Amino acid sequence: MQIFCYFRALKLPQHILTFKLSDIQTFRHSDFQTFRLSDFQTNYKSMIEKIRDTAGYLADKTGFKPEAAIILGSGLGGLVNAIDVRHRIDYGQIPNFPTSTVEGHAGKLIFGLLEGKEVVAMQGRFHYYEGYTMQQVTFPVRVMKLLGIKTMFLSNAAGGLNPSFEVGDLMIIRDHINMFPENPLRGANIDELGPRFPEMGETYSRHLISKARRIAVENHIKAQSGVYIGSPGPTLETPAEYRMFRILGADATGMSTVPEVIVARHMDITCFGISVITNLTEASRMEKPTTHDEVQNVAEQAEPNMTLIFRELIKGL
Ligand code: HPA
Repeated sequence: MQIFCYFRALKLPQHILTFKLSDIQTFRHSDFQTFRLSDFQTNYKSMIEKIRDTAGYLADKTGFKPEAAIILGSGLGGLVNAIDVRHRIDYGQIPNFPTSTVEGHAGKLIFGLLEGKEVVAMQGRFHYYEGYTMQQVTFPVRVMKLLGIKTMFLSNAAGGLNPSFEVGDLMIIRDHINMFPENPLRGANIDELGPRFPEMGETYSRHLISKARRIAVENHIKAQSGVYIGSPGPTLETPAEYRMFRILGADATGMSTVPEVIVARHMDITCFGISVITNLTEASRMEKPTTHDEVQNVAEQAEPNMTLIFRELIKGL
């Protein structure tokens, strides 16, 4: 049976619109097959096996049982210099780790001692805008939980929405807003790792936030605090979008952190995060377009103060 007759009234060329109903049925059949719930469940089952395999590989290779994880954002990798590094492993060598699609963004997992504590640090993270799925973006967090981490420290470069912020400021993340099109916990829940409906009332540890504020004051570091809004990128925001984010209640915006924190909180990992304000977003203060180089340069300059706060917090764990 042909259905082109429906389109005649639209006066559209028939050669474009003529197709058989059987073609549609074939398409629908395979489409439903792709999205069967049982497939999700199978995928999640193999996901937990992958997480266990990768954690087992890293535990065997390093003999480490890290207490804390550190995820380093763009231009903020300098903290690694403060670590007494014992193992430096390319992501490409780690079984099941996502492989980088961007040249020069290879990334390394670092195992070492910081302030006498065993830590694992991610030098380079996986961003949603690079094309990774949310499961890939957050896979290392799952693995680090199985390695034994209790606390996760995150850093990122962000655009300042709060009009009182200046370029180079640090912002202690008090809370976040998820503007990614997908939640990393969507799909069958991995009950072994956390609850179906995780509570998000204290996503960023109040205890670590107040300690960080004290550390900043004692060391004469200017530290703002505020709400981070995470969106997919890779475009920076239009002036209207920046305005919308401010109206929604955010103080800074970036393209990371939120997925990793959601997955960490699912597994009851204590989280603490700092944004480095690399550019201002108020229309009147956006003097020139923001470039990636600029973001990296500002982040590098602010990195020592961020490192100091992370170190002091890790010392007190
Ligand atoms: N928007 C989104 N991500 C960012 C920005 C920004 O203005 N600056 C640094 N990362």
